Amino acid sequence: MTADELRDLYLKFFASKGHTVISSASLVPENDPTVLFTTAGMHPLVPYLIGEAHPAGSRLCNCQKCVRTGDIEEVGDPSHLTFFEMLGNWSLGDYFKEDAIAWSYEFLTSPDYLGFDPARLSVTIFEGNETVPRDDESQAIWNRLGIPDERIYALPMKDNWWGPAGQTGPCGPDTEMFIDTGKEACGDGCQPGCSCGKYFEVWNDVFMQYDKQADGTYAKLKQANVDTGMGVERTIAMLQGKANVFETELFAPILAAIEAGCDKHFDDDPETQHAFRVVADHIRSSVFILGDDRGIRPGNLGQGYVLRRLIRRSVRYAKQLGLGEVFAAPIAEAVITNYSHVYPELERNRTHIVSELTEEERRFEKTLTRGMSELEKVLERMTEHNQTMLAGRVAFKLFDTFGFPLEFTEEICGERGITIDRKGFDKAFAKHKAVSKAGADKAFKGGLADASEQTTRLHTATHLLHKALQTVLGDHVKQRGSNITADRLRFDFSHHEKMTMEEREAVEKMVNEVIRQDLPVTMEPMTIEQAREQGAMALFDAKYGEQVNVFTIGDFSKEVCGGPHVARTGELGNFRIKKEGSSSAGVRRIRAVLEFSTHD
Ligand code: ALA
Repeated sequence: MTADELRDLYLKFFASKGHTVISSASLVPENDPTVLFTTAGMHPLVPYLIGEAHPAGSRLCNCQKCVRTGDIEEVGDPSHLTFFEMLGNWSLGDYFKEDAIAWSYEFLTSPDYLGFDPARLSVTIFEGNETVPRDDESQAIWNRLGIPDERIYALPMKDNWWGPAGQTGPCGPDTEMFIDTGKEACGDGCQPGCSCGKYFEVWNDVFMQYDKQADGTYAKLKQANVDTGMGVERTIAMLQGKANVFETELFAPILAAIEAGCDKHFDDDPETQHAFRVVADHIRSSVFILGDDRGIRPGNLGQGYVLRRLIRRSVRYAKQLGLGEVFAAPIAEAVITNYSHVYPELERNRTHIVSELTEEERRFEKTLTRGMSELEKVLERMTEHNQTMLAGRVAFKLFDTFGFPLEFTEEICGERGITIDRKGFDKAFAKHKAVSKAGADKAFKGGLADASEQTTRLHTATHLLHKALQTVLGDHVKQRGSNITADRLRFDFSHHEKMTMEEREAVEKMVNEVIRQDLPVTMEPMTIEQAREQGAMALFDAKYGEQVNVFTIGDFSKEVCGGPHVARTGELGNFRIKKEGSSSAGVRRIRAVLEFSTHD
C-alpha cells in the first residue's frame, strides 16, 4: 500500500462511519501566539473541542500537515521526523472510547483495510494517578476485541496523556497502538515506548474529558471528545515491511536527489546513513514550511527561526556528505514533485521555496566564514604557545556565539593535529541545555505558573527590561514586582518620577538591540554568595549558602531566577512598552508586550 492509498482508505473508512472529511489546516496556526506550528490535527480544532459547534458536524476526519521540532536530535533514527502527516478522526461530544477503539482496531486489522496481523498489535493505556483514575475502560474494550492483558501496558502521564502545547485546555488519557516489527527485543525492559525500533507507534486515540485549569486541577470538559492521530510515514513503513520511515516512497526520490549531488551511497555506513536522513528530513520540513501560503522566510524570530535552524542543520550534514555549497535546490524540487499532487500549495510556491532555501544557504556560508576566521585566530595563538588541546569552552563559544558547528571545529583541528576537550565542551553544552530543562521543571515547582512558550519569552524579556532600566535610569532601579501572562509582562520597579518619552524609547531600543543580537541564555547553579560576587541581580533574601540558579544573557544581564527562559534572545520578537505609570509611592509600573513578525 502506498501513502496515497493509505490517506484515501483512512478518509473513506471514517466517512463510512459518518465523518465529514475536512481539509488540512495551515502549518502556521492562525491567531494563536502560543505555538509556532500546527503540531497535531487537534490543534486547529481546539475551539470545537471546548464546546463551539463545528460547521461540518460532530464527526470529523482529515490528513493534517504537522511540524514538531522538540525531538530534532532524534531525527535519523527509524521513526522521528520534524515534518509528518497525521491522519485523524474526531468526535466532538459524539462517540467515545467504545467506538473509537473498535474502529481503530477494525481499520488496523481488517483485511478490507490495513490487514495487520492482530498478534503484532500491542497497546498502552493510562495507569492513573491521584487525580485521574486508571483507564480500565479502555483495557476492557481492548480485551473484548481480543488483545490479551500481556499486550496491554499501563503507563504514566508522561507517556499516556495528551495535553495541549500550553498549560491549560482540553486534555485526557490516551491509548496508543504499536506494531511489533519482529526485531529482537533490546533487553528485559523492551516494551512499547522503547526507542530501539522493535515497536513502532502508529496511532493514538485520545479521550479528551478534562480541561486543565491554571491552578493545575482537572475540570470535566463540557463534552467528552475523541482526538486521534495516525502517522502516515510510520504506518506506511510498517505496511511495506520496512524497518524505518526513510525506506518508503515518501523519501526515496528525496534520498536519490541527495545521492545525485555527492559521491556517497545512502547506506554506506551508519554515519552516512544518519546524515542522509537528517538532510532529507530537514529539507522536506523546510519545503513544507516555505510552501505554506503564509510566506514564512528564514529569520531570527518565531517560525522563521525554526526554519533557519532546520536549513542550517541540514547544511552541516550536507558538508559531511560532500554535497556542494548550494545543494538544497534539487532536493527541494524532489520534495515538491513528490508531494504536490496532495499539497498543491507546494507547486504554487515553488519559486519562493527554492529561492529562500538557496539564499539562506548563502547566508549561512558567510556565518561559517566568520566562524572560520575566529577559529583561525584561536589556532594561531595555540601554535604560538605550543598547545595541542582546544579548550571545551572555546569550542562551545564558537558553536554558540558564532553558530559554528562542533563537527567543523573538530575536522579543522583534526587536520592540524589538535584535539578538542570534548568533556569541557559537553559540560558547557549541558549547562546551556539545562536552561530550558531547569526552566520546565521549575515551572511546576512554583516558578512561572504557566510555562507556555509565550510566557517563557516574556519572562526572558523581563530580565532584559530590568537591565535596560538600570542602564538607562540608574542603579537605584530595583525590581519590586513582576507578573506575566501569555499576553504581556508587568514589571514594577523603584524609581521616583515618570519616565520621559526619550527614556522609554532608549529602554525599548536597548532591549530590541539585545534581541537582535540573538544572545545565548545560559544557566548556572551556584550559592547565593557566588551569585552576589559575580554581580548577579537578585532579591538577596535567600538564606546563606543556599543554591540558586543564575541566568546569564550574553554579556548583557545576569540574574538569580527560577526560570524558565528561552535559549536565545532571538526567539523573543519585537519588544514594546505599552504603558508606564505609577504603581505606589516611589514605584513605577511598566506593561510591555512582544510582537511577532514573520520577517526578520
Ligand atoms: N493529538 C494526538 C496526537 O497527536 C492524537 O498524538
